[in-house]
Amino acid sequence: MKVESDILINNTFGIKARCRKFVEFSSEKELRESLSSLCNGAFMVIGRGSNVLFTKDFDGTILHSAIKGITIIDKTDADILVEVGSGEQWDSFVEYAVDKGWYGAENLSLIPGEVGASAVQNIGAYGAEAKDIIHSVSVVDLSTGEGAEIKAQDCGYSYRQSRFKGEWRGKYIITKVTYKLSLNFTPNLNYGNIRGLLAEKGIEKPTAKDVREVVICIRKSKLPDPDIEGNAGSFFTNPIINCAEYERISKEHDDVPHYTIDDGHEKIPAGWLIDQCGWKGKRMGNAAVHDKQALVIVNKGNASAQEILRLKDSITEDVEQKFGITLNPEVQII
Ligand code: EPU
Repeated sequence: MKVESDILINNTFGIKARCRKFVEFSSEKELRESLSSLCNGAFMVIGRGSNVLFTKDFDGTILHSAIKGITIIDKTDADILVEVGSGEQWDSFVEYAVDKGWYGAENLSLIPGEVGASAVQNIGAYGAEAKDIIHSVSVVDLSTGEGAEIKAQDCGYSYRQSRFKGEWRGKYIITKVTYKLSLNFTPNLNYGNIRGLLAEKGIEKPTAKDVREVVICIRKSKLPDPDIEGNAGSFFTNPIINCAEYERISKEHDDVPHYTIDDGHEKIPAGWLIDQCGWKGKRMGNAAVHDKQALVIVNKGNASAQEILRLKDSITEDVEQKFGITLNPEVQII
């Protein structure tokens, strides 16, 4: 177990915030031991800090899982169950799965963060979501210290949502996630320009590796690398609006991109709304809207959380005024 006091909190936004105590556990046993010595009783679990904005120091304990390992726990002719430590890097797991011929995670290539976060956040990209491949989530229940396994269907998954983010916040800590991956490859090429890029490369029958490479290429062309320019990916979720609201907007903008959720609802890209308001590439102090994807706020160097919040508020106000839609942050603001 690694224990440190008064250190800077690791976060991809590059915000300087400190925590009173930092504890990294490498096993369920270490996690249980660490729970008895939480500072002030307050704690937070973070992975790589890739979806969080710290607006102040955290007067408590930051817990980090360093539980590793990728273990096959069952296999049939059609699929495989793989249990993965919550502290594994998400993209290392995706790369490993693709190499092994286990399919279903390839569209989620290059998402920053760790395996535990995939189950909290229901990460998603390019027509796939973590919930499509999560079989179950192993946790430690903080009220009893007991381990438990929660089936995916009980985790309340929907677009970027889960019970871990809602009613179960502070109740469980995730130790492992079990994914059900297919042994037969069915490419999922319907989102955005995946098909177009494969065609450009002359690939007619793509392998999972080809899909992974194309997804990585698209991400790199649109999304800033947090190691180079601080950011937390999409700052806002894509709003889901009812048909009447959608019709009102599409009357004025017949090119509005949209994804049908059900008979009564459409999802509109927040990036498009922000872009329409003229924010792409705009800078306020040391915070800016990314010039290739308006959904991402970047730290231009030593931005304070307050500068980022000011930019977020101005964007939200403009979108509200122009479209009558309220944007909600995807990033957790602490
Ligand atoms: N668009 C614009 N201007 C912009 C950005 C987007 O007009 O500045 C338009 C695009 O042209 C496109 C549509 O909006 O027609 C959607 O854009 P994109 O495919 O880039 O996806 P997104 O809806 O903006 C979501 C996820 C991303 C994920 C991509 C690809 C959310 C909040 N974001 O973005 O996830 O990579 O789809 O699947 O759902 C993340 O969660 O951090 C993240 C990056």
